[in-house]
Amino acid sequence: MQLLFLVVLLAIVGQVQARAVFAHFMLGNSNDYTKTNWEQDIFAAKEAHIDAFALNTGFDLSIHRLLTDAFSVAADLDFKLFLSLDYSGDGHWPQDQVIKYLKEFTQLPAYYKTDNHKPLVSTFEGGDAVDDWKNIKNKIDCFFIPEWSGLGPHKAISNAQVDGLMSWSAWPNGRDKMTTDTDNEYLDALNGKPYIMPVSPWFYTNMVRFHKNWVWQGDDLWYTRWQQVLEIEPEYVEILTWNDFGESHYIGPIHESGLAVFNYGQAPFDYARGMPHDGWRTFLPYVIDLYKNGGNNVQQPMGNEGLVSWYRINPASACSSGETTGNTVTHQQKTMEPEQVLQDKIFFSALLESSADISVTIGGEDRAATWIHTPNGGKGIYHGSIPINHQTGAVVVTLTRDNDFLVEIDGHPITADCVQNMTNWNAWVGNASSTAPKPSSPSASSTQESSSHRVVVSRIIHVAMAWTALYGLDFR
Ligand SMILES: *[C@@H]1O[C@H](CO)[C@@H](O)[C@H](O)[C@H]1NC(C)=O
Ligand SMILES: *[C@@H]1O[C@H](CO)[C@@H](O)[C@H](O)[C@H]1NC(C)=O
Repeated sequence: MQLLFLVVLLAIVGQVQARAVFAHFMLGNSNDYTKTNWEQDIFAAKEAHIDAFALNTGFDLSIHRLLTDAFSVAADLDFKLFLSLDYSGDGHWPQDQVIKYLKEFTQLPAYYKTDNHKPLVSTFEGGDAVDDWKNIKNKIDCFFIPEWSGLGPHKAISNAQVDGLMSWSAWPNGRDKMTTDTDNEYLDALNGKPYIMPVSPWFYTNMVRFHKNWVWQGDDLWYTRWQQVLEIEPEYVEILTWNDFGESHYIGPIHESGLAVFNYGQAPFDYARGMPHDGWRTFLPYVIDLYKNGGNNVQQPMGNEGLVSWYRINPASACSSGETTGNTVTHQQKTMEPEQVLQDKIFFSALLESSADISVTIGGEDRAATWIHTPNGGKGIYHGSIPINHQTGAVVVTLTRDNDFLVEIDGHPITADCVQNMTNWNAWVGNASSTAPKPSSPSASSTQESSSHRVVVSRIIHVAMAWTALYGLDFR
């Protein structure tokens, strides 16, 4: 009986796909990358427990060189990449080009494969190219998960070539609360096929050349959306994005060469320069491992305790809005003032073993900050915010426990002195980590290997518990 149980158990576990987290990577912004730049980005992504970059690209001629460099560094560093074919930028990818690129790059060791050993291929838009994929898949045996939001999930999944779907709905309308309604629509339509759930921290773009000038909700989104990932536990997560500086939702390091897009896109000013977002990666190892473990907080090693804080460095009323709108008519939305979408607030999250106190000062004045969200059981991610109330000056965010200092962020000052007298609607992100050894917690270093072992172990436990619940089998 026990042997039979084990056999059935292994069969069930074997069917479960490994969860993975991708980051959407704009290949165009790596046009001037050196090998060192690739190494820095891949190292930072691995450190954040990201599994692969989804390389977004049109079919421009110079991409062959970029892809060759990227795949070579990724292979050296044991990282994975896959193609996300962009049908919006340069237009409709010609079928023969798709086949040519996939034929060459999907064979490389660094190309991301799903659990059934097929190379993953994704898109940005391209819903009008559905008919191309029968022929493409005849030539390339790939696992195809397009982002065909334009078609809607039910229509998109009805195409026989589609193995799963990605959604692009990472930002709610205006100040609406972010919900999982769209994710659930996708999950319903997918009926068990894999879903790539999008997660993004921010959105501000102002590019004259592309006629783009709007904000979408950021604020608490980075916290809220990861909680929704833990709730939904999708097959895959894709972070929007690693390096889209022009839309202000990058979480990767800023390289000087990546900022060329501001010139090319005729932005009125460079709103990413001096605005690091690295802090948004700080808690990713924790939250990503949690997601891969099925949200099981109990056996989750935490790493160092830490603090992350983000805010806009210009109060909304201080300077000109730059004619930026909240929402955009290009997405059939009702527009509003940007400050109706993005609030003048300082946001803060902390990763803690147990409760601690938060304080914020602006221009030396204490602002009585408290947590709005605290994790069950006291261990995990805390989150909150305080209004800026037109205050300017130095920003200091401090964590203490029982009046003992833990960590502090000496943040970018808030100023009414705006570049070109235009409010920068991008966020500045700061972070600080405690390096003090924590006597009771397990080793802070958690490799991808041990994390995937934990996934399997936690799934075996889950399946075993389900089995006992169903059949009352005593397997102790
Ligand atoms: C801030 O976060 C980044 C990304 O996690 C990390 O590389 C860096 O060391 C952190 N800085 C501090 C001061 O903790
Ligand atoms: C900056 O913009 C604000 C709001 O549009 C305006 O009142 C102010 O006069 C401008 N200042 C300068 C120096 O142009």
